Amino acid sequence: MRTYLVTGGAGFIGSNYIHYMFKKYGNEIRIINVDKLTYAGNLENLADIENRENYTFIKADICDTEKINAVFAENDIQRVVHFAAESHVDRSIKHPEVFVKTNVLGTLVMLNAAKAAWELPDGSFKPDHKFLHVSTDEVYGSLEEDGGYFYETTPYAPHSPYSASKASSDMLVKAYMDTYKFPANITNCSNNYGPYQFPEKLIPLMINNALHGRKLPVYGDGKNVRDWLYVEDHCKGIDMVQEKGRLFETYNIGGHNERQNLQIIHTILETLREMLPDSDPRKAGITDELITFVEDRKGHDRRYAIAPDKIRAEVGWYPETTFEVGIRKTIEWYFEHEEWMNHVTSGDYQKYYDDMYSNR
Ligand code: NAD
Ligand code: TYD
Repeated sequence: MRTYLVTGGAGFIGSNYIHYMFKKYGNEIRIINVDKLTYAGNLENLADIENRENYTFIKADICDTEKINAVFAENDIQRVVHFAAESHVDRSIKHPEVFVKTNVLGTLVMLNAAKAAWELPDGSFKPDHKFLHVSTDEVYGSLEEDGGYFYETTPYAPHSPYSASKASSDMLVKAYMDTYKFPANITNCSNNYGPYQFPEKLIPLMINNALHGRKLPVYGDGKNVRDWLYVEDHCKGIDMVQEKGRLFETYNIGGHNERQNLQIIHTILETLREMLPDSDPRKAGITDELITFVEDRKGHDRRYAIAPDKIRAEVGWYPETTFEVGIRKTIEWYFEHEEWMNHVTSGDYQKYYDDMYSNR
């Protein structure tokens, strides 16, 4: 039975990936999930699979060399899928240090542990052992509004502390592949949305605020463009790259779904109005008047857009969920998981929200 070590599996994409993999492979695989459970990590995301015999959760910091080495020593890990990271640009602008620690040093710890466990005396690596580093399109910087795409060959030009720390981690993975022929891949994906996304990111924040009749804070002119991908399509891409991609290669993942932030917000409002029954008291409060323009994000990247040509041609990946279907599924999920939202927005969330938005 093949064993996967997933880092950051209690977060948004990691938990979706674990669900996806069990749905696809059932009991053919074993998954060990290593997560520190920061504010973004939530074991509720995995409640329905936590008792599986082929699943183990280990609470650990990826910067903790001893613990990570022990996980490799005690298990024959054949696949690493490395999600664990600090992932929110706004937080990175206020508190960059933890981004460098987790995203850069944590990745180095993961690389060293896998290398030590997999390297053979002649310097080659155990066959069929692979590391996949999950990264972002934000490492490529910002595109002009009127053209161009991010290709795998686009030079790195990160602007935020978040994207700079992810770029650094990508460079470390590239260095291990170049120097040691360490068996790895990197994927750079566009913005994800879907179930289990923490409401500090655009889409769940707007859904949650609208349902509570709260203002919808739009940074700047609201015309920044992101290329949105339904999270399950990302998970499928990661699995396909690991099984069908060429080792040492980078693959961009995105679905040609560029939208301005204001367009996204209008779609959310319209879909909420359509989906809520007239008897629901929240419906009347969901109006365009909630939209409020606030001070722009510092260094706000204007446009991201992925060219997914390579992953399509080499791996056969394509996105299955259109935005229209994906946003409905996402909203439906938030309707059905009000308790989840109540839990993640209790405690520190209010303080975060006040820090980020009260004087904006
Ligand atoms: P997330 O913030 O929802 O989850 C991150 C997870 O990592 C959490 O469970 C958290 O507890 C864990 N974690 C954080 N620091 C840790 C540490 N030191 N040790 C162990 N665990 C730690 O993030 P996400 O949106 O699921 O993103 C996952 C990965 O995908 C990240 O590497 C991110 O850069 C990348 N990515 C995200 C997007 C997106 O749109 N969300 C797009 C492209 C790439
Ligand atoms: P976000 O979800 O934080 O993802 P990223 O910055 O990694 O792309 O933000 C997506 C876009 O939405 C980005 O242009 C910033 C904007 N945004 C707002 O306008 N208001 C908000 O409250 C948030 C969280 C984001």
